[in-house]
Amino acid sequence: MVQAQPAGTVNKRISVSAEVFGKYNKKEEFVAHVVPKTDEIKTKISARLAMAFMFKALAEEELNIVIDAMEEKKFQAGETVINEGEAGSVLFVVEEGSLDCSKRLDPNSQEATLLKTYQPGDAFGELALLYNAPRAATIIAKTAVSLWQLDRNTFTHIVKDAAKNKRDRYEDFLSSVPILQSIDHYERSKVADAIKESTFAAGSQILTEGADGSDFYIIISGEAIATKSLNGAAPTQVKAYGPSDYFGERALLLSEPRAANVIAQTEVKVATIDRDSFQRLLGPLDTILQRNMDQYMTHAIQ
Ligand code: CMP
Ligand code: CMP
Repeated sequence: MVQAQPAGTVNKRISVSAEVFGKYNKKEEFVAHVVPKTDEIKTKISARLAMAFMFKALAEEELNIVIDAMEEKKFQAGETVINEGEAGSVLFVVEEGSLDCSKRLDPNSQEATLLKTYQPGDAFGELALLYNAPRAATIIAKTAVSLWQLDRNTFTHIVKDAAKNKRDRYEDFLSSVPILQSIDHYERSKVADAIKESTFAAGSQILTEGADGSDFYIIISGEAIATKSLNGAAPTQVKAYGPSDYFGERALLLSEPRAANVIAQTEVKVATIDRDSFQRLLGPLDTILQRNMDQYMTHAIQ
């Protein structure tokens, strides 16, 4: 049954593979929201979604459903896109322009604190949809902006479970990681969105000295060591790692090859974060990471 929609939009009963449909068949039947668009526009949205952490877990078929449902919304500089405290039914991905996000940190005051500025490829407005809560912050266009808007129904059926499960699954782990203590709870949930998990067998080489580096690692479980060749000699151990420790930051921060080997001592499960996510999410930790990196010099002299 086709329901009434705003002009230019179409609802169609979803015809996707059993694999995708099977995941959602406990909910009411999903009627896909389709806003007709050219292939060129679809490619444009796809490029933006690839940058937004929350959509990284989606399979191609799921991404296509999201792309079909996206609707362009434009706002002038100074216009409010989201108002803290109001009900919300859509999320946005930035195509063009920038927006300021601010929040009343003291509930008794009307004064809002600027939290961050959104740029193309950032997504916002997901919390109200994930938790059925009022908008947690206010978002105002800083320049003229073009946004991709995603409706609650598509979000709920296609994105919500993956995003919510991932945020919930990593919440306790990420709050136990010392290096992430200084970023706020909300930013840690974005780190959760960006995580990929992998497992290495005992004795296997996770990183190789001299190789190119593209990921940052945090140990979820298991033990590993770092070894390094000092003055051309055989590699010797320079560090030991356990759960909640991190490595692999140096190559990303300095754009240099890996400066040490990292070898699993037991089976090791790691959370990896790619270079782009590392820079965008953990950029604010630059000073702490740099300070810790300075200690490598001590090992190098020993
Ligand atoms: P939502 O609550 O739907 O609307 C406001 C949005 O601001 C929220 O989703 C998040 O996407 C975004 N936001 C950014 N930083 C924060 C923060 N520290 N706390 C809450 N929301 C934030
Ligand atoms: P990266 O150079 O990206 O890859 C190897 C990692 O080993 C490095 O980042 C650090 O995280 C870690 N490491 C541990 N000890 C040392 C050390 N003495 N010198 C350089 N890197 C080290």
